[in-house]
Amino acid sequence: MLGQLLLAASGSRVVRRAVSGFPLTRKVVDRFVAGESVEEARDTVERLRDTGLAVTVDHLGEETRDARAAAATTDAYLALLRAIRPLELGARGEVSVKLSALGQRIDEAMALEHARAICAAAAVAGSAVTLDMEDHTTVDSTLAVLRKLREDHPSTGVAIQAYLFRSEQDCRDLSSEGFRVRLVKGAYREPASVAHQGRTAVDKAYVRCLRVLMAGKGYPMVATHDDRMIAITELLADRFGRTIGDHEFQMLYGIRTDLQEALAGAGHTVRVYVPYGDDWYGYFMRRLAERPANVAFFLRALGGK
Ligand code: FDA
Repeated sequence: MLGQLLLAASGSRVVRRAVSGFPLTRKVVDRFVAGESVEEARDTVERLRDTGLAVTVDHLGEETRDARAAAATTDAYLALLRAIRPLELGARGEVSVKLSALGQRIDEAMALEHARAICAAAAVAGSAVTLDMEDHTTVDSTLAVLRKLREDHPSTGVAIQAYLFRSEQDCRDLSSEGFRVRLVKGAYREPASVAHQGRTAVDKAYVRCLRVLMAGKGYPMVATHDDRMIAITELLADRFGRTIGDHEFQMLYGIRTDLQEALAGAGHTVRVYVPYGDDWYGYFMRRLAERPANVAFFLRALGGK
């Protein structure tokens, strides 16, 4: 219930102003966001690299209907890729992109061109791009853009949200050789007409999608902090003859860092999703919505504790 309210608030301009205006908000935001500047992002990436973790860096920003803002987001990604290139991360340092921030809602072809420019810059660094998945109305368009990007940049990946009814079939369609699919539970408020509701149903859907991806020939990117999903991944890896190196785990910056380090220490590729930038509100509210305890943490910080 609280989670649903927070997800509703993530789209509210009034709540955005109130939350962003609180001086102590920053302290809490810093737990989930690597900073506002590209330099702060680069320093975080370097620190994570030195602890044996791979990264995918996200320039924070949500849907825009302004072509200039879409171009500015593209430029920010190009600057980011230039900034992290000297770290020589290769495939261990990719970027994550929200097509809506590249103007997908106003003109899909424009978003595709921006995404192509980002993919080309990533390729120069020996790296790749993964497309985030947003609310269910964007899925067909995002998968269409993915198909076009993969013509020139076959390593481009995509996130698939297990909570959507359609996702098991999408996983089947994306499970052949060369596909990189990041499986997530899903973080948006979706109606019961398109998505499983409630933790148990979503977890079961996640396992079904995971099974399809692990049985397939692609490269599954298992993006979860859930111990049970990680244990099931290891069982499925055994069953389908997968070894360390032909799939990876992914987690969000600041969440379950103990688990990130333990899995990396055991030899797995663990990729941390590192968001940075000043447009942190939507991302931050989704993290609060995922876990009521985060709200208590937020309120304690606002109270100065
Ligand atoms: P679950 O929510 O059941 O959490 C399992 C455990 O993880 C919790 O018990 C807690 O210990 C810890 N945990 C989870 N969330 C936490 C939080 N916010 N704060 C503190 N602890 C927390 N979604 C989407 O719709 N589109 C996308 O493109 C992406 N991209 C993406 C990339 C990566 C790398 C990750 C890891 C996640 C996403 N997501 C996403 C978010 C995803 O859909 C989901 O909301 C979160 O990962 C939380 O789900 P879990 O699988 O961790 O399980």
